[in-house]
Amino acid sequence: MTIVRTRLSPHLGVELTGIDLSQELTAATRQAILDAWIDAGVLLFRGLGTSPETHMRLSEVFGELEPAATASLNDPNNPYLMNLSYYPDKPGAYQKHYTVQGIDRAGWLGWHWDQSFMPTIVRGAILRMVEPAARMGETGFIDAVAAYDRLTDAQKARIDGLEVVYEFNPDFTSGQFGFPKDICAIDADLPAIGPGHKFDFPPVVHPLVITQHETGRKVLKLSPMHARYVLGMGRDESDALLEEIAEHLVDPRYAYFHAWGRDDMIVWDNWRVIHSANGVPLECARYAQRTTIMGDYKVGRYLDATRSSNDIGRRIVD
Ligand SMILES: [Fe+2]
Repeated sequence: MTIVRTRLSPHLGVELTGIDLSQELTAATRQAILDAWIDAGVLLFRGLGTSPETHMRLSEVFGELEPAATASLNDPNNPYLMNLSYYPDKPGAYQKHYTVQGIDRAGWLGWHWDQSFMPTIVRGAILRMVEPAARMGETGFIDAVAAYDRLTDAQKARIDGLEVVYEFNPDFTSGQFGFPKDICAIDADLPAIGPGHKFDFPPVVHPLVITQHETGRKVLKLSPMHARYVLGMGRDESDALLEEIAEHLVDPRYAYFHAWGRDDMIVWDNWRVIHSANGVPLECARYAQRTTIMGDYKVGRYLDATRSSNDIGRRIVD
């Protein structure tokens, strides 16, 4: 079979066809998938995620997998699969509900790369849509390589060498950069993330610009959702700069939003692409599974220099 790439949008991503995930993949096919991933940042395999087995077979192309990070979300039969579900009739949802642009939503997430509040960030993830939402539920992607290229020369010079401090914050109404201004929590008294969770994520530092290992391209490495301030910069100046850079990065004109079909799988490069979740109307169920590709881009660290980057007590999905 010939593997065919079809662009998902003018800005990033391709759909790959001509791959049979019902059997073991050849070395040539695996390499073709990897090459497309580095080129495009996001790969779509439409309708091929028919089982956990095909999901695992595809995931293993991208390297070593990380066991599901949030124990309460683990699939009981496979520690590498996370269950990400929303069912309106099952209270105690994983995530708080928000109103955005006048729509009450479950599962809404602003623009981010995963685990920006940790010193080592995972390489990527593969999401498989088991039960798409009857309405909405799209996942958005933006290429941070192209976003870097769109900066002016003055902006590039200004952010060169800067580092950003991140700290986990599950409350999406507390003024994150690049977030919609009209966001509000539906029930302010609900816990932000499931009952019984405690967070212990000391502040971490990531460069604002990194280099993609495989190509040498520069990446605008800002995760607006958990970014707090530019290290060593006055707070007002830092707030203004991060607001400017975040608005540039999350410009919707350059986003691709995937409208999920059943059994679609998407893999994204978490070192290069930011993503967001549109959420679903509160009455709409949605069920996806996710695998996570391990990785350490080696340039993140704890703000507290006495802590080792390997000193990770706990990881969670975000
Ligand atoms: Fe995420």
